[in-house]
Amino acid sequence: MYDPKLHFQFRQLLSEKENVKARQEYEAFSQRAFANLSRIKNLFTRLYGNQKNWETQYWLLMEDLIQTFIDRPVELRRQDMNREADRDWYLNEKLVGMMLYVDRFAGKLDDFESKVSYIKELGVNWIHLMPLLKSPEGSNDGGYAVSDYRAVDPKFGSMEELRRIADKLRGEDMLLTLDMVMNHTADEHEWAQKARSGDPYYQDFYYFFDNRSMPDWYEEGMPEVFPQSAPGNFTHIPELNKWVMTVFHNYQWDLNYRNPIVFREMMKILLFLANVGVDIIRLDAVAFTWKIPGSTSQNTEEAHVILQLMKACAEVVAPGFAFIAEAIVAPHEVIRYFGEGESYGHECEIAYNATFMALLWDAVASEDTTMLRKGAQAIPAKPDGTTWINYLRCHDDIGLGFDENILHELGKSPYHHKKYLVDYYSGNFKGSMALGAPFAFNPKTGDARISGSLAALAGLERAIKDNNSELIDLAIQKILMLHGIILSYGGLPMIYYGDEIGMGNDHSYLDDPDKSYDNRWMHRPIMDWNKADKRVDPASPEGRIYKGLQKLILLRKSSPEFADQNSLSIEDSGNPFVFSFLRWNYEGAKTLVLSNFTSSTHFVRTEHLSKLGFIPYDMRDKLSGSAPKFYHDLIEIPPYGQYWLTDKTTFDAFQAAEEMEALQSQFKWGV
Ligand code: GLC
Repeated sequence: MYDPKLHFQFRQLLSEKENVKARQEYEAFSQRAFANLSRIKNLFTRLYGNQKNWETQYWLLMEDLIQTFIDRPVELRRQDMNREADRDWYLNEKLVGMMLYVDRFAGKLDDFESKVSYIKELGVNWIHLMPLLKSPEGSNDGGYAVSDYRAVDPKFGSMEELRRIADKLRGEDMLLTLDMVMNHTADEHEWAQKARSGDPYYQDFYYFFDNRSMPDWYEEGMPEVFPQSAPGNFTHIPELNKWVMTVFHNYQWDLNYRNPIVFREMMKILLFLANVGVDIIRLDAVAFTWKIPGSTSQNTEEAHVILQLMKACAEVVAPGFAFIAEAIVAPHEVIRYFGEGESYGHECEIAYNATFMALLWDAVASEDTTMLRKGAQAIPAKPDGTTWINYLRCHDDIGLGFDENILHELGKSPYHHKKYLVDYYSGNFKGSMALGAPFAFNPKTGDARISGSLAALAGLERAIKDNNSELIDLAIQKILMLHGIILSYGGLPMIYYGDEIGMGNDHSYLDDPDKSYDNRWMHRPIMDWNKADKRVDPASPEGRIYKGLQKLILLRKSSPEFADQNSLSIEDSGNPFVFSFLRWNYEGAKTLVLSNFTSSTHFVRTEHLSKLGFIPYDMRDKLSGSAPKFYHDLIEIPPYGQYWLTDKTTFDAFQAAEEMEALQSQFKWGV
C-alpha cells in the first residue's frame, strides 16, 4: 500500500546522506524501496510493534538500509540490476555447486585461489566456502560459532583476500556462497563478552534468566540437538549466576530476536556480507531463531517473519543476493521457508532438500525405491522462482526425518526401520559394506543420525581396503548413479568436496580434543591431493569417479529440461528396484531418468516408456550417446546402472549443445 508520509520520510533520509538523485542506481534503489516500504513496515511491526521504541528502531533500520546501499560496490549494484531482469540466474541447468572447508581443502584463502582451477575443471561454477569468519580458537563447531562477523579468521587469511576471491569468482562467472550464522554467536563475541561482564544492554541480546523457572518451561518443549555432546538447551554462567540459552553447544549463545536491535545488527551483517560479493547466502539454523516457551521453539511463525523481513530489506539494497534456508525439518515445514500466504515465494529462494537426500540413502540401504518414490512424491510443491539444493552428503550428519505415515503404509515400523538404517550405515548389519557411525544417539528417544563420507557409506572405502575389485566396481557405479540423480532431478546440485575422488572417512579428528566429541568430523576430510592427482588415471577409482562426474556435469549443462523451473514427475517404473522420474520443458525437451538401486541387473517394461509418450525403440541414452539395451520388450539396466533416456528430437537438439564438443573430445561417447 502506498503511504505518502513513509515515502517522503524515506526520500528525506536518503537525500540527507548524499545528493545522489541523478544516479541511475540510486533511482533503482528508491524504486525498490518504495515498492517494499509498506511491506517492511508491516513485517517489522508484526515482530516489534508492541514495543515502545519500535518506531525509532524502524527508522534506524531505514538508515541502515540506505547506508549499506551507499556502501555497496558499484559493480554489485549493476549486477543487481541485471539479475533483477533475469531471475533465472540461480535457477538454470548450468549451475553446479561444491561446498568445501577452505583450510581442509586447500589451507589458507591464498592457497584456495590456486585450487579454483581444479574445481572448474570438474565443471563446478558455484562454490560454498564453509564458515571462515572469526571464531574462537579451540571448539567452535567448525566455525559455526562466530566471534566477529566482519573479520575473516586469521587462520584463513583476511577480509581483503576474501573480497579478492569474490571478485575473481565473479570475473570467471562463478558464484560464491558463505554462511550467515544467524541463530547464535560464539560466547567470545563482543556482545557475549559484554553480557558476561554484566552489561544489561548486551544481556538483552541473548536469552538470559536469573533462575531455572523459565529455562525449565522452555525445556519442556525443546528437543536436544546434540544430546550426547551438549545435552540441554541452557548453560549456567557462574560469574553472573544466570542461565543463558544455548540450543547447540554451550559456547554458542542463542540470539534474542525479540530485541529489535538484534534484528538490526544481524541485518547489517547480512548486507555487509552481500557487499563483500557473496551471491547466495546460506542462512544457518533458520528454524531456531524465535523461541516460545513450552513449544519446540522451531519453525515458529515469527522465525518466518524474521526471514521475510530480511528478504524484503535485502530486496531493496541487494536484489541480486539470494537466500538459502538451512532448515533440516519435516517436508511440510521446510516448504514454508519459501514463503507462504501473503509472503508466498518471498522468503528464501533456496532450501536444502534434506528429505530427498535421506530418501536416497534409504533406497540404497533397502535396495528398494518404493519409499523413495512415495516420499519424493509427497514433498509439497514449491512456489515459482524457488528451488532446492539436491545433495548426497554435506558436512552434517544424515537425519532420518521420514514421513512416518509412508513407513506405516509400507508396513514398516518407523522405530525399527530407522534403527536398521543406522545399523546398516554403521556396518553393523550383515552384508553391509558401509563404514559410517551413529551420530547424536539420544537414549531418551532412541533416535540417532548417521555420520560418514559418501565413499564410506556407499561401500567404496571398505571394498578398496578389502581389495575386492568387483565390489569396487559396484560402489563406483553406485556413487555415479546417485550423483546422476542429483544432477538431473531439478534444483541445484551441490557436490561435497572430496566426493569427486571418493575420499573415505578421516579419523584424524579423534586426536583433537576440540573435535573428538563430534564424529561429524569423520566426513570433513583433509583433502588428499595425491589422491586428487590420480584423477587423470582412468583405471583408478579416483579417475573413474572424477571423470564420470565430470561427464555427468557436462551432460546436465547441455540439458535445458534439467533446469528447476521445468517439470518433474516421479513415476512408478513397475519395478521397485528402479527409480524413475521424467523431466521436461515447454520447448519439448524431455528426459526419463531410470536408476537401478541394486547390485543385480533389472528390467523395466517398455510399456512404462510408451505410457510416458516415448517410442521405446527410438530412444537414446544421453549418458552413453547410444540406444539403451533391450531384452525382448524389456529395457535392461545393469547393477547400479542409470539411463537418461530421451526421444530423437531432444537428442538431436542436445547434440548441438555447446558442451558437446568437450564431451566428444574427452569421453568415449556415442560409440
Ligand atoms: C547448522 C550447521 C551445523 C551446525 C549448526 C549450528 O545446522 O550445518 O554444522 O552445527 O548449524 O550452527
